[in-house]
Amino acid sequence: MGVGPPAYQVTKAALNALTRTLAGELRHAHILVNAVCPGWVATDMGGASAPRSVEEGAAGVVWTATLPQNGPTGGFFRDGKPPYQGDTHVPEEETTEGSRAMLLGG
Ligand SMILES: NC(=O)c1ccc[n+]([C@@H]2O[C@H](COP(=O)([O-])OP(=O)(O)OC[C@H]3O[C@@H](n4cnc5c(N)ncnc54)[C@H](OP(=O)(O)O)[C@@H]3O)[C@@H](O)[C@H]2O)c1
Repeated sequence: MGVGPPAYQVTKAALNALTRTLAGELRHAHILVNAVCPGWVATDMGGASAPRSVEEGAAGVVWTATLPQNGPTGGFFRDGKPPYQGDTHVPEEETTEGSRAMLLGG
């Protein structure tokens, strides 16, 4: 399955479920909800030997936080690409400015 202790993996499974559920709940409130995998990043968690810099990991987070109004919702992204893509795009007429939500997955 995934990487890390079982309890960690379960929290990420729950996060994926929360992402999908919130995306559905908030679709008509014009709020996009997506999860992000930053990759293996040299944070306190990743450790100094991790291959990705904090800047590289953060870039995908920023990409997700600045999606256009008609961007995807309910997806799981890394570097702006879907390891798993959720719902298709929200129709433009259903969107408004400045509504974003994001969850950090892994
Ligand atoms: N680093 C990676 O390679 C990697 C890969 C995949 C996914 N992720 C995910 O990315 C997210 C952030 O990870 P990171 O690498 O940035 O980890 P990190 O450097 O260890 O930072 C974790 C952050 O969580 C806070 N925190 C920890 N326990 C908390 C608690 N009980 N209540 C409130 N805040 C708490 C810490 O606060 P303090 O600073 O006050 O301790 C810190 O700001 C996590 O969800 C992780 O699973 C990371």
